[in-house]
Amino acid sequence: MNEPRIIVALDFDHAESALSLSKKLSPQLCRLKVGKELFTAAGPSIIEKLIRDGYEIFLDLKFHDIPATVAKACKVACNLGVWMINVHASGGKKMLIAAREAVPAHSTRLIAVTVLTSMNEFDLHEIGFSDTPQQLVLKLAHLTQDCGLDGVVCSAQEAPSLRKELGKNFCLVTPGIRLPDNTRTDDQERITTPQQAIQNGSDYLVVGRPITLAENPRHALYQIQQSMLRITS
Ligand code: C5P
Repeated sequence: MNEPRIIVALDFDHAESALSLSKKLSPQLCRLKVGKELFTAAGPSIIEKLIRDGYEIFLDLKFHDIPATVAKACKVACNLGVWMINVHASGGKKMLIAAREAVPAHSTRLIAVTVLTSMNEFDLHEIGFSDTPQQLVLKLAHLTQDCGLDGVVCSAQEAPSLRKELGKNFCLVTPGIRLPDNTRTDDQERITTPQQAIQNGSDYLVVGRPITLAENPRHALYQIQQSMLRITS
């Protein structure tokens, strides 16, 4: 697979910072993720600008609402010309099916968030789930696949079991990536290195702060890519 497998999270509060970072990177090396912060600050025009610069965009708005609302939001998001969008799998079967019906197959990729990588077992128990993150991720990933979506967001720690149970065509997108020498986990709980993520069967790695806060973001991206190539070649 020669397509870029790193998705850089543009977690910024205004367009200028996002555009300035995008100029330092390259569409040949990565895709870009626009999340709630940047989209709320800069709106659809930031998407247009990044697409014009040649980037494929993952619009990470994690929709979670009643089925009709999510379906309509998904449709509008697709019309922005983005490569990937997502919803929360915990929105349930009816919501997932409505989202699928709103997004034509083989157009924008539609994936679902299983359990946020910032959550551990204690956090889940606190909100009423008795499953471990691993058990809940597996349940939600099966539900997502049964509803016809293209894949899930999960931690690369769960990728081996998901790959085994859901097959090779189900897309696994994994945030919570940290370099081996990076002692900062920030707010992430279930983290892996880029090499582990690839070995575990991840298709795309979402990387935010290890690149956006690096002194030389392009070099950080290049280093991550090289470490992945050592595994795939
Ligand atoms: O900076 P860092 O590499 O931790 O960036 C993680 C990015 O991935 C953030 O933009 C966050 O919203 C996103 N994300 C996540 N966990 C998920 C889904 C998305 O951390 N389950």
